[in-house]
Amino acid sequence: MTVACNFDGRIVVNWKSCDWQPYPAIDGGETDLKWHPVRAEPGPGDGTYLLKVAPGGGAKLHAHSGQEEFVVLDGELIDGDGTVLRTGDVLSYDPGTRHRTRSPKGCTLMVWIEKPIDTVEGDDEIATMQAGRKIVNWKTADFTRYPTLPETADPIDWHNVRADPETGMGLSLIKFLPGSSSSLHEHTGYEEFVVLQGSLVDPDGTVYETGDVVSLPPGSIHATTSPNGCITAVVIEGPLKTLV
Ligand SMILES: [Fe+2]
Ligand SMILES: [Fe+2]
Repeated sequence: MTVACNFDGRIVVNWKSCDWQPYPAIDGGETDLKWHPVRAEPGPGDGTYLLKVAPGGGAKLHAHSGQEEFVVLDGELIDGDGTVLRTGDVLSYDPGTRHRTRSPKGCTLMVWIEKPIDTVEGDDEIATMQAGRKIVNWKTADFTRYPTLPETADPIDWHNVRADPETGMGLSLIKFLPGSSSSLHEHTGYEEFVVLQGSLVDPDGTVYETGDVVSLPPGSIHATTSPNGCITAVVIEGPLKTLV
């Protein structure tokens, strides 16, 4: 049986060449933030988007009822406890996080936010934030073999940031060795990734280059190859179905 690929609803945008719009503030007033929504609606702050913080800008105190995850693509961001998040850092915050951020030098982020954000008044909950925060830099992360090898045509390595090893759901760094491919699979939830190094090719010939942000909706079917190797940061929202 031959299963056709499905790319309906796919979005590809490169963070270095996308257009930037004023970030639609969740409470009506940030002027130092710009965004490029990949899959997000103005207002509630959830979804998948690129965010650019101007030098001296930042986000006022806010609370996350769901997961917040981002990659620092460029620049530096300082978290509420003074931790400096540098280019290449990949962050995951548990639900319940309450923090503020600032960026003296400016920065660009690739952001996945699971549920709407609320701006709040009062003090940061630093201990809660620190307990639920994971930080890894993709340039120095250690990679191990992706555990669900039957789902890959060739060996693929990963660094699990916040993912279920059984299903792959969650946030991880994925490293394709040169010439390796994933087997044909269907996504039951969104797959959204940013190419941090190298490139990937889908069976329809579309090449995802370094800097590309890709959103594949539920129902997407593909098998991806990396002729020269690559590293991506990916969030997978639903279990994968392997089709071969
Ligand atoms: Fe946040
Ligand atoms: Fe996929």
